[in-house]
Amino acid sequence: MSLIYNIGLLVGIQPEGVLRVEGVAQGRTGTLENAWLRIENGRIAGFGDMSSVIPSEASVSLDAQGGMLMPGFCDSHTHVVYVGSRDGEFIDKINGLSYEEIAARGGGILNSANLLQQTSEEALYSQSMSRVREMMDKGTVAIEIKSGYGLSPEAELKMLRVIRRIQKTVPAAVKSTFLGAHAVGRGYTHEEYVQMVIDLIPQAAELADFVDVFCDEGFFTVEDTDRILTAAKGKLVPKIHANELAVSGGVQVGVKHGALSVDHLERTTDAEIDALKGTQTMPTMLPGSSFFLGLPYGRAKDYIKAGLGVALSSDYNPGSSPSGDMRFVMAQGCIKMRLTPVEAFNAVTLNSAYAMGLSREYGSITAGKKAALILTEPGWDLTKLAYQYQTPYIKQVIF
Ligand code: NIG
Ligand code: FE
Repeated sequence: MSLIYNIGLLVGIQPEGVLRVEGVAQGRTGTLENAWLRIENGRIAGFGDMSSVIPSEASVSLDAQGGMLMPGFCDSHTHVVYVGSRDGEFIDKINGLSYEEIAARGGGILNSANLLQQTSEEALYSQSMSRVREMMDKGTVAIEIKSGYGLSPEAELKMLRVIRRIQKTVPAAVKSTFLGAHAVGRGYTHEEYVQMVIDLIPQAAELADFVDVFCDEGFFTVEDTDRILTAAKGKLVPKIHANELAVSGGVQVGVKHGALSVDHLERTTDAEIDALKGTQTMPTMLPGSSFFLGLPYGRAKDYIKAGLGVALSSDYNPGSSPSGDMRFVMAQGCIKMRLTPVEAFNAVTLNSAYAMGLSREYGSITAGKKAALILTEPGWDLTKLAYQYQTPYIKQVIF
């Protein structure tokens, strides 16, 4: 048993069984000042007030010295398994080319795929691991990682094996997504490629948890998405890239197939909000790609006003969001999407854990959940975390 005591502020307390927060509930979280927290077998075993009876039989005890203790960040949408960099395209972008124009010139996802196909599994693993370590150092305790830079059967499976290896190595929880339908691989017609993705599903399902499709203008259609999700039914749960470049119909086709999340949503109308009401699907927004590509920020506030919950994630990838900093994501939720600090906090913890099927184990301070926590220096609270968004604040990430 371990004990953390002298916690200045314990935040993110939720009752057992709350798997996501929606509408007004997204703006609330349980807090306790001057607290202790007990950990047993890696799980939260209890917590209370310092003036109440403090457990005394601890084998390890940690003086929090007045710091804030919060659940670690959950990042439900990343593409951190890749090689090399796309800094050349960064310069093209500065010089005025759009994401679509860069992709049309053979850059973008195809550029990353060319490099990945020529890279050994070992090198792919070690380059990707350095990003996962960087994210864990910044307080991320649960990560979803997608394939999608392979774009051939061998290279897609290579990516999924690397994700599996990361899963076995790191203390963070890792979920894996088969995103074969990220772009049409070289040497295929569009139709041949969609068929290849469908044919690969049984093998991918042995390695992955989820299936994703980039359902957007210039990439895959609603019809392609429907076919792929139909083929994956009963094998892989959908999480969809939708409405980044256009109002694509991706939300509706995702909802139709019971998607766990629909992600991006930079371009949405009220129809998408209506389609999500009463469903199990978590709308997930990726402010890092709005920032990097100069796209509109998602209408998170409108979703919450409509009674829905919203998750925020990093989209860490070489083309549209080269950062996995979830504290910056939270700050952008406040600064650019006008979420309150508590709404943004729930978006990067409990709701993002939900968006990758992990909210029974992660995302809040709840007895029985994994003790995957961030302990801050003294004097921090959620508002200051988002407001003073670049000041170092982490004292320790606890797994
Ligand atoms: O989520 N939009 C599609 N996929 C990634 C970007 C991939 C890339 O450009 O490498 C995204 O933004
Ligand atoms: Fe993405």
